[in-house]
Amino acid sequence: MRQRKLFVTTALPYANGKFHIGHIMEYIQADIWVRHQRMGGHMVQFVGADDAHGAPIMIAAEKAGQTPQQFVAGIAAGRQEYLDGFHVRFDNWHSTDSPENTELAQGIYRALKANGMVTTRTIEQFYDPVKGMFLPDRYIKGECPTCHAKDQYGDSCEVCSSVYSPTDLIEPYSTLSGVRPELRSSEHYFFRLSDPQVVDFLKAWTQDGKLQPEVAKKASEWFEAGLADWDISRDAPYFGIEIPDAPGKYFYVWLDAPIGYLASLKNHFDKGQAKNHWHAPSRTEASFEQYVADPAVEQVHFIGKDIVYFHTLFWPAMLQFSGRKTPSQINVHGFITVSGEKMSKSRGTGIDPLRYLGIGMNPEWLRYYIAAKLNGKVEDVDFNPDDFIARVNADLIGKYVNIASRAAKFVPGGTLVGSFGGEETRATRLVDEVRNLYEGREYGKAVREIMAFADEVNLRFDAAAPWKLVKEGKADEAALVCSECLESFKVMTACLKPILPALAQQAEAFLQCAPLDWSNAATPLGAGHKVGTYQHLMQRVEGKQVDALFELPQEAKAAAPAAQPAAKEANPAKTPAVGGAAEPGGEALAAEITIDDFARVDLRIAKIVDCQPVSGSTKLLQLTLDAGEGRLRNVFSGIASAYKPEQLAGKLTVVVANLAPRKMKFGVSEGMVLAASHADEKANPGIFVLEPWAGAQPGMRVR
Ligand code: 2FM
Ligand code: ZN
Repeated sequence: MRQRKLFVTTALPYANGKFHIGHIMEYIQADIWVRHQRMGGHMVQFVGADDAHGAPIMIAAEKAGQTPQQFVAGIAAGRQEYLDGFHVRFDNWHSTDSPENTELAQGIYRALKANGMVTTRTIEQFYDPVKGMFLPDRYIKGECPTCHAKDQYGDSCEVCSSVYSPTDLIEPYSTLSGVRPELRSSEHYFFRLSDPQVVDFLKAWTQDGKLQPEVAKKASEWFEAGLADWDISRDAPYFGIEIPDAPGKYFYVWLDAPIGYLASLKNHFDKGQAKNHWHAPSRTEASFEQYVADPAVEQVHFIGKDIVYFHTLFWPAMLQFSGRKTPSQINVHGFITVSGEKMSKSRGTGIDPLRYLGIGMNPEWLRYYIAAKLNGKVEDVDFNPDDFIARVNADLIGKYVNIASRAAKFVPGGTLVGSFGGEETRATRLVDEVRNLYEGREYGKAVREIMAFADEVNLRFDAAAPWKLVKEGKADEAALVCSECLESFKVMTACLKPILPALAQQAEAFLQCAPLDWSNAATPLGAGHKVGTYQHLMQRVEGKQVDALFELPQEAKAAAPAAQPAAKEANPAKTPAVGGAAEPGGEALAAEITIDDFARVDLRIAKIVDCQPVSGSTKLLQLTLDAGEGRLRNVFSGIASAYKPEQLAGKLTVVVANLAPRKMKFGVSEGMVLAASHADEKANPGIFVLEPWAGAQPGMRVR
């Protein structure tokens, strides 16, 4: 059999947050595939890295009072705990903010440029004059040009779903500073994706069997719509890699992110750690370049369905037109939902992977459950708490683990008897079938095959009733049946090993056999082989553990006492975690802040000395406020639907006094008046301006 050389990656996670269950699912999927390949004797380099660059990380670092490097180092430091915890065994973990990535990205860019694949164009974009930076669309908000809903993002409206560009927004403002952004022009660098050479290459590349059929179909739709050149530059300030010979210009994060796959592999080679898996001639840089250029090396990427465009168009084109080898397979998976609920990319879902481990839940339960639900298609996977309990307890433990404990009792001294006769062919068929299914990422089918085999074994055990045989003085017969059951247990252990590596190791210790792989999976241990004393291999999952997984964390409970009883008593299947049913006022609580964060918001008592309608606006009232500063403030507030000007004049209220002034169509607004409303104002109308108790004076701080 030909020994394959496989270079396998998972999508590089942004270094601005912890892993959520979606990341863990992808890593488990890839890790199972890699373990399956290694069991076949293939040589695998399995690498990951943090995707460190980009504006959101730069901004998050600034908010945290750290340099971007410090910020991403903090995130990176937390990664191993998750990976070890869920038995995800990367050969290397690196960062896109690394010398290797800088060198590779700049090298690839230079090659693309030399091949005429880079062009420049001047484009107009919103610029925040206070922050001194061009604004990515997600940092621009304003009024929807279609339905006039306020505070909508620069690309689409969450209320009426219309799609537009940031320049269409009415009263646009920067979410970073609150000021109105200015349109400024700047020179950008583009990768010429629309070049006929590139289009022809991609049309062939995406349709030659490397992609799942539904992914290839999506790609052909993109070709029909036409490919546009890809803007690969961003202006300073930007946390990224400098573009050679272009002062003040950086690569857009998505240019250097996939190059991070190569950077992590190079780092792995440079550390001399790849030699165990690939017979590199030396530990030098050349060995990395030789490896990635080797036509025999298969480059396989596991990704989620949201980043297909980047991996099936930009990435192969970048590699091809910089003279490099292109990927061999892009394996796309769907999202993970929890009890049917979609998760947010940044917040994840109600299942916090560290909480899962922290409350003592077995990581292999999750690996098994996820495997049982995965297939080779781009389909979403639902985590359903009741289904999870049933599959782990009834199938994994009830059908597989229990065979060993039941059978071991009737094999005196642990010495196997019998030849495993006709069962061997059945075992070989199972192993072949399961290997094929792993290869095609049909893990759910593989698990079903293994469980069907387990059903057969359990039936034979029950039909033979060894406990009766022993009573009838037929201990030899009982030993024979049970030896066969243990042989079958060994076969199943091998078949489940990519999914359950730790359990397989314990089982191998019990079976006193060599590490199981595909070459010995179906070979009987044989008569005379002595197994060890059976020790319990796996605990059952308890309902209360799953309840605990979905309970509100202590801190959130303190902040949301009203939600506590419901979260405690309800069935976890129907109790989403923070942000689910416990959504006071129609929205989940915002992320936790410290008292210092709160102290940055300066709230003052203000007297509404005057209040006027705003001509040309049905939403706004113009307030003149006295916040005890010896001057008056002008504030526009979107409360005209709830109050007549005369209802407000003379009243006291609370104003956010240190909010950056915001230029609006009707003038500059110098602060914001506090008011309460339900998140779904249509269903729960009403806006209620805050008014302090008697005695408060203008200028007093609210704390
Ligand atoms: O979507 C994401 O989370 C990206 N950070 C994935 C990058 S994959 C690769 F290109 F690095
Ligand atoms: Zn709208």
